[in-house]
This record gives sequence, C-alpha cells and structure tokens, in this order.
Amino acid sequence: MHPSSVEIRRAGADDWAAVAALRSAAAQPAADGGEQDEPTWRTECARHTYVVAWSGADPIGLVGSSQAGDGSVALFGLWVAPAARRAGIGRRLLDEALAVAAGWGAPLVQLWVSPANEAALSLYRTAGFAPTGARQRMPGQPEEEILLAWHAPPPPLAPLYEVLRRRRDVRGEFSGAPLDDAVLGRVLAAAHGAPSVGLSQPWDFVVVEDRRLREAFREHVHNERAVFAHSLEEGARGRFAGIKIEGILEASCGVVVTYDPERGAPAVLGRHAIADAGLYSVCLAIENLWLAATAEGWGVGWVSFYREAFLADLVGLPVRLRPVAWLCLGPVRSLATVPDLERHGWRARRPLRDALHRDRWEGERPWAG
Ligand SMILES: Cc1cc2nc3c(=O)[nH]c(=O)nc-3n(C[C@H](O)[C@H](O)[C@H](O)COP(=O)(O)O)c2cc1C
Repeated sequence: MHPSSVEIRRAGADDWAAVAALRSAAAQPAADGGEQDEPTWRTECARHTYVVAWSGADPIGLVGSSQAGDGSVALFGLWVAPAARRAGIGRRLLDEALAVAAGWGAPLVQLWVSPANEAALSLYRTAGFAPTGARQRMPGQPEEEILLAWHAPPPPLAPLYEVLRRRRDVRGEFSGAPLDDAVLGRVLAAAHGAPSVGLSQPWDFVVVEDRRLREAFREHVHNERAVFAHSLEEGARGRFAGIKIEGILEASCGVVVTYDPERGAPAVLGRHAIADAGLYSVCLAIENLWLAATAEGWGVGWVSFYREAFLADLVGLPVRLRPVAWLCLGPVRSLATVPDLERHGWRARRPLRDALHRDRWEGERPWAG
C-alpha cells in the first residue's frame, strides 16, 4: 500500500459494514450499544460522523466524531490498521475530522486519550491539541485517560457596528463562488446561537444547493411576483418591474429557515401569552445569520415571494414546520451602500427620530433634530 493511494472519505450510512469491521478490529463496539448488527451500525453511522481511510476497497482506518449541544465536537475511536501505520494516515484522518468540525462551526474539539499512548499523544500535539487537565477512568478500563482540546482559530472579524452598517439585502451582487464549508459552518453556528423564547431554539436550516430545486423555487417566486405586480397600480407596477427581488440561482446556496412550534412545547417558558414569540426567535436566528455572513464578506437576500405550502413541499418539511424564509446566501462581489428599494425609488428609509416616542405613542419627540 502506498500512502498516496489511500483515500480519506466521510462515511455514509451505506458504509456501515466498513465502520463495523474497523471498530471491531479496534475492539470498539458500537458506541450506542445493542446488538452489533446492521441496524445498530446504520443507526451508529447516522448519529455520528465517521471518517474512513480506504486502501482500494479495504477500509484501513477510521475516526468518529459527534457534536454536542454547546457546539463542541468530541472525537473518538481514531484507529489505523497495524500494517498501515507510520504512513501519516492517522494525521489525514484527524485533519478530515477537524474539517468536519469546522464545517459545523465548532469552536472546540475534544478527545480522550491514554497518557501511555505516546504515538497518539504526539500525533494530537502536532495537530494542535493540548491537555485540558481533565482525567477520567471509564468502567472496565485499566488506566486513566486525559482530555485533550483543540480550539478553532478565531476568524478575523469586522467590528460589530461596521457590520451593522454594511449589511444589505443582496440580489444581484452574488459571485456564485463555491461554498467554503468552514465559513458556512461559522455563519450557521452564529444563527444557531441566537436567543430564543424558553431556549426552545425552534429553528432548523435546510441548505439547498441542488440546482433543480432552486430552479423550481425560482419559477414559483416569479409566479408570485406576477401576482403581486397584478395588485399594483400602473405607476407602481412600472417601478416594480425594474426591481430584482431574488438571487436564487446567482447565490451559492439557499437556506430555508423553518419554525417548529412544537419544539419544547407545551411548556415553552415565555410563550404562553404571545404565540408569535416562537417566530420572533426564528427571525433573530436569521438576523444573526445575516450579520455573521456580512462579517465574513458574504451576502444574504431574504425571499418571501412564496406560498408556504409550496416551499414546505419542495424541501419535504414535516407538516408542523413553517418555512419562515428562503435566504439566498454566499460570497458577494460587493455590497451596495443604499438599499435596492431606495435606489429604485420604491421607498426611502425613515429617519430614526421619526421612529422614536417618549413614554407614550404621541409623546413629544425625545431628541430634536
Ligand atoms: C421579512 C422580510 C422579507 C423580505 N422579502 C424580500 C423579498 O422577497 N425580496 C427582496 O428582494 N427583498 C426582500 N426583503 C429585503 C428587504 O426588501 C430589505 O431588507 C429592505 O429593502 C431594506 O434593505 P436592506 O436590507 O439592504 O437594508 C425582505 C426582508 C425581510 C425582513
């Protein structure tokens, strides 16, 4: 076996037999226990992400990872077949597992290792892992393990107020460049870190890259555009005709952000009197996503010219979920300084002072200007 002929790939559910064989060669039963049969290993491969090293059709190494609710990732079971050792395969498995973690926007990756396993310790150290000081002894294990941690390098960030000022709704400026999974992971992690009523986190994100799905959605949006145009008076219809309302195909992907009213229900703390508080939470996730994307040099375009039933069906949402937004997302060539609708004379922005009230709606303006 020559190292350059070894392929490192993320395992899907259909790779369950390779994962099972490697875990059993490494004397590691399925983490979730139960019978070590096909259904158990298929569940295992769906619940955890395994990266497998292949020499032709032979699986020769693997590492597993799983993400916790706080966004951190735990790596486990890194193992390379004895005949394939000392060829850098462990490092390649580790690098791919770290790329998976970066794709999830994980700020922290941790793993347990025996301090007596010097080869593993040295591999982890050179990949940037450091001891945390935590130790554990698992039941039935002869020796203690130590916890190592790897921290994702912080991305260079623009100051917050600068990002708030630069954010724009984007339609025509998408570059269409391929998605960088690490950036996408950070942007989605920022969205997932939004505040939510009762900590219900009622959102999900369906990332849509499939061209045919996007074309079908765009066609539907254009029909709805025509419905809206038909409702306008002649002058407004003329102005609307010159306004682009979506960048569905130009963007690198779409993100359908959904609302699950049943998440955490019925006792959602803080929603008993205001049912919409769940939807407000989803909108905050969208705003976090929008700002994080702007900080990364990406753009977002919110598309709401659709019927919910159409979009829910298009991306196969369970019945209880509502699609709150289709967001066009991806790198941009530039961001406009003036909103498109203002540039096209559709509406101008209100000055802040017109939106401010003192004590009561009709109170005197708090700041003269
Ligand atoms: C809930 C919501 C729905 C929107 N739907 C659309 C849309 O369907 N098409 C579109 O071009 N822009 C849409 N927008 C973007 C707004 O037109 C845009 O935010 C507004 O004109 C201000 O521009 P700015 O975001 O660049 O500051 C939507 C924005 C929000 C918040």
